[in-house]
Amino acid sequence: MSECSAGERLWLVVPAAGRGRRMGAELPKQYLMLGGRPVLAHTLARLHQAFPQAKLCLCLDPDDVHFDPVWVPFAEWRRTPGGAERADSVRQALSALAGEARDEDLVLVHDVARPCVTLAALARLAAALREDPVGALLATPVADTMKRDDGRQRIARTESRDGLWQAQTPQGFRYGLLRRALHEAAVGDVGVTDEASAVEALGLSPRLVPGRRDNIKITHPEDLALAGHILAAQQGEPLVASDNPQEET
Ligand code: C5P
Repeated sequence: MSECSAGERLWLVVPAAGRGRRMGAELPKQYLMLGGRPVLAHTLARLHQAFPQAKLCLCLDPDDVHFDPVWVPFAEWRRTPGGAERADSVRQALSALAGEARDEDLVLVHDVARPCVTLAALARLAAALREDPVGALLATPVADTMKRDDGRQRIARTESRDGLWQAQTPQGFRYGLLRRALHEAAVGDVGVTDEASAVEALGLSPRLVPGRRDNIKITHPEDLALAGHILAAQQGEPLVASDNPQEET
Protein backbone atom coordinates (compact mmCIF):
# COMPACT_ATOMS: atom_id res chain seq x y z
CA MET A 1 0.00 0.00 0.00
CA SER A 2 1.19 3.51 -0.78
CA GLU A 3 2.49 5.43 2.22
CA CYS A 4 2.90 9.15 1.46
CA SER A 5 4.20 10.16 4.87
CA ALA A 6 4.21 8.29 8.15
CA GLY A 7 1.09 6.13 8.07
CA GLU A 8 -0.74 8.33 5.56
CA ARG A 9 -2.38 6.81 2.54
CA LEU A 10 -3.36 8.79 -0.53
CA TRP A 11 -5.78 7.72 -3.24
CA LEU A 12 -6.25 9.63 -6.49
CA VAL A 13 -9.61 9.37 -8.23
CA VAL A 14 -9.63 10.70 -11.79
CA PRO A 15 -13.07 10.85 -13.39
CA ALA A 16 -12.46 10.33 -17.11
CA ALA A 17 -15.75 8.80 -18.21
CA GLY A 18 -17.22 11.93 -19.79
CA ARG A 19 -18.07 12.00 -23.46
CA GLY A 20 -17.16 15.70 -23.80
CA ARG A 21 -20.15 16.61 -25.97
CA ARG A 22 -19.55 20.35 -25.50
CA MET A 23 -16.25 19.96 -27.36
CA GLY A 24 -18.12 18.80 -30.46
CA ALA A 25 -15.10 16.60 -31.32
CA GLU A 26 -15.17 13.03 -32.60
CA LEU A 27 -13.07 11.83 -29.68
CA PRO A 28 -13.88 12.38 -25.98
CA LYS A 29 -11.83 15.40 -24.87
CA GLN A 30 -9.46 13.36 -22.70
CA TYR A 31 -8.13 11.74 -25.88
CA LEU A 32 -7.57 14.93 -27.88
CA MET A 33 -3.88 15.50 -28.55
CA LEU A 34 -1.76 18.16 -26.89
CA GLY A 35 1.84 18.30 -28.07
CA GLY A 36 1.82 14.68 -29.23
CA ARG A 37 0.16 13.19 -26.16
CA PRO A 38 -3.51 12.90 -25.18
CA VAL A 39 -4.91 15.19 -22.50
CA LEU A 40 -5.34 12.17 -20.20
CA ALA A 41 -1.61 11.35 -20.35
CA HIS A 42 -0.67 14.95 -19.46
CA THR A 43 -3.02 14.99 -16.47
CA LEU A 44 -1.85 11.64 -15.11
CA ALA A 45 1.79 12.66 -15.56
CA ARG A 46 1.26 15.82 -13.49
CA LEU A 47 -0.45 13.88 -10.70
CA HIS A 48 2.28 11.26 -10.72
CA GLN A 49 5.04 13.89 -10.48
CA ALA A 50 3.32 15.33 -7.42
CA PHE A 51 2.25 12.07 -5.77
CA PRO A 52 4.39 9.20 -7.11
CA GLN A 53 3.42 6.86 -4.26
CA ALA A 54 -0.35 7.37 -4.53
CA LYS A 55 -2.76 4.76 -5.81
CA LEU A 56 -4.85 5.72 -8.80
CA CYS A 57 -8.47 4.94 -9.56
CA LEU A 58 -9.29 5.91 -13.15
CA CYS A 59 -13.02 6.12 -13.98
CA LEU A 60 -13.58 5.17 -17.61
CA ASP A 61 -16.66 4.60 -19.69
CA PRO A 62 -17.11 0.79 -19.88
CA ASP A 63 -17.46 1.18 -23.69
CA ASP A 64 -14.29 3.28 -24.01
CA VAL A 65 -12.23 1.95 -26.91
CA HIS A 66 -9.65 4.75 -26.93
CA PHE A 67 -7.90 4.16 -23.61
CA ASP A 68 -4.34 2.81 -23.61
CA PRO A 69 -2.74 1.76 -20.28
CA VAL A 70 0.62 2.97 -21.57
CA TRP A 71 -0.49 6.46 -20.52
CA VAL A 72 -0.71 5.49 -16.84
CA PRO A 73 2.57 6.18 -14.97
CA PHE A 74 1.40 4.87 -11.57
CA ALA A 75 2.69 1.57 -10.23
CA GLU A 76 -0.61 0.83 -8.54
CA TRP A 77 -3.79 1.69 -10.36
CA ARG A 78 -7.16 0.32 -11.34
CA ARG A 79 -9.87 1.10 -13.83
CA THR A 80 -13.42 1.58 -12.53
CA PRO A 81 -16.60 1.98 -14.60
CA GLY A 82 -17.95 5.50 -15.05
CA GLY A 83 -21.57 6.31 -14.26
CA ALA A 84 -24.24 8.48 -15.84
CA GLU A 85 -22.98 11.68 -14.16
CA ARG A 86 -19.57 12.71 -12.87
CA ALA A 87 -20.68 12.20 -9.26
CA ASP A 88 -21.77 8.63 -10.14
CA SER A 89 -18.33 7.92 -11.61
CA VAL A 90 -16.62 9.12 -8.43
CA ARG A 91 -19.10 7.32 -6.17
CA GLN A 92 -18.51 4.05 -8.01
CA ALA A 93 -14.75 4.51 -7.76
CA LEU A 94 -15.02 4.96 -3.99
CA SER A 95 -17.21 1.86 -3.72
CA ALA A 96 -14.57 -0.10 -5.60
CA LEU A 97 -12.05 0.84 -2.88
CA ALA A 98 -14.26 -0.38 -0.02
CA GLY A 99 -12.45 -2.92 2.10
CA GLU A 100 -9.08 -1.53 1.05
CA ALA A 101 -9.37 2.18 1.85
CA ARG A 102 -9.67 3.29 5.46
CA ASP A 103 -12.08 6.03 6.48
CA GLU A 104 -9.22 8.38 7.37
CA ASP A 105 -7.33 7.89 4.10
CA LEU A 106 -6.97 10.99 1.94
CA VAL A 107 -8.70 11.00 -1.45
CA LEU A 108 -7.96 13.62 -4.10
CA VAL A 109 -10.43 13.79 -6.99
CA HIS A 110 -9.13 15.50 -10.13
CA ASP A 111 -10.86 16.01 -13.49
CA VAL A 112 -8.96 14.38 -16.33
CA ALA A 113 -9.75 17.52 -18.35
CA ARG A 114 -7.45 19.70 -16.17
CA PRO A 115 -3.93 18.89 -17.41
CA CYS A 116 -2.45 22.28 -16.43
CA VAL A 117 -2.63 21.98 -12.64
CA THR A 118 0.80 22.85 -11.23
CA LEU A 119 2.87 20.78 -8.81
CA ALA A 120 3.01 23.72 -6.41
CA ALA A 121 -0.80 23.97 -6.34
CA LEU A 122 -1.07 20.23 -5.77
CA ALA A 123 1.42 20.44 -2.89
CA ARG A 124 -0.45 23.38 -1.38
CA LEU A 125 -3.76 21.55 -1.55
CA ALA A 126 -2.33 18.37 -0.02
CA ALA A 127 -0.82 20.36 2.85
CA ALA A 128 -4.15 22.09 3.54
CA LEU A 129 -6.00 18.80 3.37
CA ARG A 130 -3.73 17.12 5.89
CA GLU A 131 -4.54 19.85 8.42
CA ASP A 132 -8.26 20.13 7.76
CA PRO A 133 -10.80 17.70 9.22
CA VAL A 134 -13.43 18.57 6.59
CA GLY A 135 -11.48 18.76 3.32
CA ALA A 136 -10.18 21.26 0.80
CA LEU A 137 -10.30 22.22 -2.86
CA LEU A 138 -8.41 24.45 -5.26
CA ALA A 139 -10.40 27.54 -6.20
CA THR A 140 -9.88 31.06 -7.51
CA PRO A 141 -11.66 34.26 -6.48
CA VAL A 142 -14.06 35.40 -9.22
CA ALA A 143 -12.42 38.14 -11.29
CA ASP A 144 -15.16 39.07 -13.76
CA THR A 145 -18.36 40.99 -13.14
CA MET A 146 -21.16 38.45 -12.78
CA LYS A 147 -24.49 38.84 -14.60
CA ARG A 148 -27.67 36.84 -13.94
CA ASP A 149 -29.77 36.38 -17.09
CA ASP A 150 -33.54 36.58 -17.35
CA GLY A 151 -33.84 33.37 -19.35
CA ARG A 152 -34.00 35.34 -22.64
CA GLN A 153 -30.32 36.28 -22.80
CA ARG A 154 -30.85 39.70 -21.25
CA ILE A 155 -29.49 40.80 -17.92
CA ALA A 156 -31.86 40.42 -15.00
CA ARG A 157 -29.31 41.78 -12.54
CA THR A 158 -25.63 42.06 -11.64
CA GLU A 159 -24.52 39.71 -8.87
CA SER A 160 -21.95 40.82 -6.35
CA ARG A 161 -18.69 38.95 -6.85
CA ASP A 162 -17.60 39.64 -3.27
CA GLY A 163 -16.73 36.34 -1.64
CA LEU A 164 -17.41 34.34 -4.82
CA TRP A 165 -14.93 31.66 -5.86
CA GLN A 166 -14.71 29.37 -8.86
CA ALA A 167 -14.23 25.78 -7.76
CA GLN A 168 -11.53 23.76 -9.50
CA THR A 169 -10.06 20.34 -8.89
CA PRO A 170 -8.40 18.57 -7.21
CA GLN A 171 -10.83 18.40 -4.33
CA GLY A 172 -9.67 16.37 -1.36
CA PHE A 173 -11.49 14.67 1.49
CA ARG A 174 -11.16 11.76 3.89
CA TYR A 175 -12.40 8.58 2.26
CA GLY A 176 -15.16 7.86 4.80
CA LEU A 177 -16.60 11.37 4.70
CA LEU A 178 -16.56 11.63 0.91
CA ARG A 179 -18.14 8.23 0.44
CA ARG A 180 -20.94 9.10 2.86
CA ALA A 181 -21.48 12.52 1.24
CA LEU A 182 -21.76 11.13 -2.29
CA HIS A 183 -23.97 8.26 -1.12
CA GLU A 184 -26.36 10.63 0.62
CA ALA A 185 -26.43 12.98 -2.39
CA ALA A 186 -27.38 10.03 -4.61
CA VAL A 187 -30.05 8.72 -2.21
CA GLY A 188 -31.48 12.22 -1.71
CA ASP A 189 -31.31 12.93 -5.45
CA VAL A 190 -29.26 16.06 -4.75
CA GLY A 191 -27.58 17.04 -8.03
CA VAL A 192 -23.88 17.68 -7.33
CA THR A 193 -21.30 18.75 -9.91
CA ASP A 194 -18.33 18.49 -7.56
CA GLU A 195 -17.34 16.67 -4.39
CA ALA A 196 -17.45 19.80 -2.24
CA SER A 197 -21.18 20.28 -2.99
CA ALA A 198 -21.92 16.82 -1.63
CA VAL A 199 -19.93 17.54 1.53
CA GLU A 200 -21.63 20.94 1.88
CA ALA A 201 -25.00 19.17 1.74
CA LEU A 202 -23.96 17.44 5.00
CA GLY A 203 -23.70 20.89 6.60
CA LEU A 204 -19.89 21.05 6.43
CA SER A 205 -17.64 23.77 4.98
CA PRO A 206 -14.65 22.60 2.95
CA ARG A 207 -11.59 24.89 2.87
CA LEU A 208 -10.93 27.03 -0.22
CA VAL A 209 -7.26 26.82 -1.20
CA PRO A 210 -6.19 29.56 -3.65
CA GLY A 211 -5.31 27.99 -6.98
CA ARG A 212 -4.21 29.43 -10.32
CA ARG A 213 -6.43 30.64 -13.09
CA ASP A 214 -4.51 28.59 -15.62
CA ASN A 215 -5.81 25.32 -14.10
CA ILE A 216 -8.47 25.36 -16.80
CA LYS A 217 -10.95 22.57 -17.52
CA ILE A 218 -10.89 21.75 -21.21
CA THR A 219 -14.56 22.06 -22.10
CA HIS A 220 -15.01 24.03 -25.30
CA PRO A 221 -13.04 23.69 -28.58
CA GLU A 222 -10.95 26.82 -27.99
CA ASP A 223 -9.78 25.46 -24.61
CA LEU A 224 -7.54 22.85 -26.21
CA ALA A 225 -5.22 25.39 -27.87
CA LEU A 226 -5.26 27.45 -24.67
CA ALA A 227 -4.20 24.42 -22.62
CA GLY A 228 -1.38 23.82 -25.11
CA HIS A 229 -0.11 27.38 -24.65
CA ILE A 230 -0.36 27.10 -20.85
CA LEU A 231 1.58 23.83 -20.77
CA ALA A 232 4.28 25.34 -23.01
CA ALA A 233 4.52 28.45 -20.82
CA GLN A 234 4.72 26.34 -17.66
CA GLN A 235 7.77 24.49 -19.01
CA GLY A 236 9.92 27.44 -18.03
CA GLU A 237 8.56 27.62 -14.47
CA PRO A 238 10.21 26.10 -11.41
CA LEU A 239 8.41 22.82 -10.74
CA VAL A 240 7.56 23.16 -7.09
CA ALA A 241 8.25 26.79 -6.07
CA SER A 242 5.26 28.73 -4.77
CA ASP A 243 3.06 29.79 -7.67
CA ASN A 244 0.35 31.37 -5.59
CA PRO A 245 0.19 35.13 -6.19
CA GLN A 246 -1.51 35.57 -2.79
CA GLU A 247 1.49 33.98 -1.08
CA GLU A 248 4.05 35.98 -3.00
CA THR A 249 2.65 39.46 -2.35
O1 C5P B 1 -18.34 17.24 -18.41
P1 C5P B 1 -17.41 17.86 -17.40
O2 C5P B 1 -16.32 18.67 -18.05
O3 C5P B 1 -18.07 18.58 -16.30
O4 C5P B 1 -16.66 16.61 -16.73
C1 C5P B 1 -15.74 16.79 -15.69
C2 C5P B 1 -14.95 15.51 -15.49
O5 C5P B 1 -15.82 14.44 -15.11
C3 C5P B 1 -14.23 15.06 -16.75
O6 C5P B 1 -12.95 14.63 -16.33
C4 C5P B 1 -15.10 13.92 -17.27
O7 C5P B 1 -14.39 12.93 -17.99
C5 C5P B 1 -15.65 13.33 -15.97
N1 C5P B 1 -16.94 12.65 -16.10
C6 C5P B 1 -17.06 11.31 -15.66
N2 C5P B 1 -18.27 10.68 -15.75
C7 C5P B 1 -19.34 11.29 -16.29
C8 C5P B 1 -19.24 12.63 -16.73
C9 C5P B 1 -18.02 13.29 -16.61
O8 C5P B 1 -16.09 10.72 -15.19
N3 C5P B 1 -20.48 10.61 -16.40
